[in-house]
Amino acid sequence: MNTTPVKTKDNIDLAQAITDLKKKKNAVILAHYYQNPDIQDIADFVGDSLALAQWAAETDADIIVLCGVHFMGETAKILSPEKKVFIPDLNAGCSLADSCPADELEKFINRHPGHTVISYVNTTAAVKTLTDVVVTSTNARRIVESFPPETKIIFGPDENLGNYINSLTGRNMVLWKGACHVHEQFSLEKMLALKGEHPDALILAHPECKTVILKIADYVGSTSDLLKFSTHSASKKFIVATESGILHKMQRGNPDKVFIPAPPNDATCACNECNFMKLNTLEKLYHCLKYETPEIFVSEEIQRKAVKPIRRMLNISEKLGLK
Ligand code: 13P
Ligand code: SF4
Repeated sequence: MNTTPVKTKDNIDLAQAITDLKKKKNAVILAHYYQNPDIQDIADFVGDSLALAQWAAETDADIIVLCGVHFMGETAKILSPEKKVFIPDLNAGCSLADSCPADELEKFINRHPGHTVISYVNTTAAVKTLTDVVVTSTNARRIVESFPPETKIIFGPDENLGNYINSLTGRNMVLWKGACHVHEQFSLEKMLALKGEHPDALILAHPECKTVILKIADYVGSTSDLLKFSTHSASKKFIVATESGILHKMQRGNPDKVFIPAPPNDATCACNECNFMKLNTLEKLYHCLKYETPEIFVSEEIQRKAVKPIRRMLNISEKLGLK
């Protein structure tokens, strides 16, 4: 492992400077599993979307730096409006959240009267104001099942996740046709060829992957579920179909096991990396803490409406003991 300190042009040891600033400003660094390893290693907490929301709701820090994408920072701000929330790069968006503009969702909802609206957390704050309950990939199935079977549900924006939950629960939720550009591009042919080369490997897949990929997976789950499964499984080898950042924690926790990133469709690109997540760097994190920018702002009116479906998710998750 490389332990050489990463320094700026001015010879500042970034890890040390970040640790000092964090202490001085009573800040907490929350990072998603898809962040670069150096950011994961310096964060106070590393987790999936659900855990990030839970920590943001509970922290007594004055500043939250959310090393993830914009909707994650926005969710933290909505849950803790009195705190300053920053993300290292404001351009860290999400193709899935972009696939569901609030005005179009509103028209869709109007075309389906009497439906409960369940939205994945990968959405803008404006979409959350149109939502009855938010879900993440860790709790989506259980939250859908918490509604009586006859409930008419609109689920969005991830169509693959929606189809997967319909198949598990026997529901017939109306699905928004959105997708994540990273999870959509895993190739069935290449996965099968890789499995042929490593017949002893188990295939792990995030439910945002296409149905054909989920069908050949040995285990389907959120990032934290995949991590737990790989730790507790007796298997020694895994092909991992999600953003490749998760391999850092998998490998760290299981040094005796082999983790192979699932191949993207186009061998010439690193498309199993989320280009939005990877915009965040240690240097940007340092600047973010030092200059307290870029900050996430949410209007009071949107915050007031959007917090309800997020709190509802957190309450149901707490009752179900989901972490
Ligand atoms: P998790 O809910 O597993 O953290 O996934 C979030 C995400 O952005 C997946 O692409
Ligand atoms: Fe959004 Fe996909 Fe990146 Fe997750 S991996 S943040 S869903 S673009």
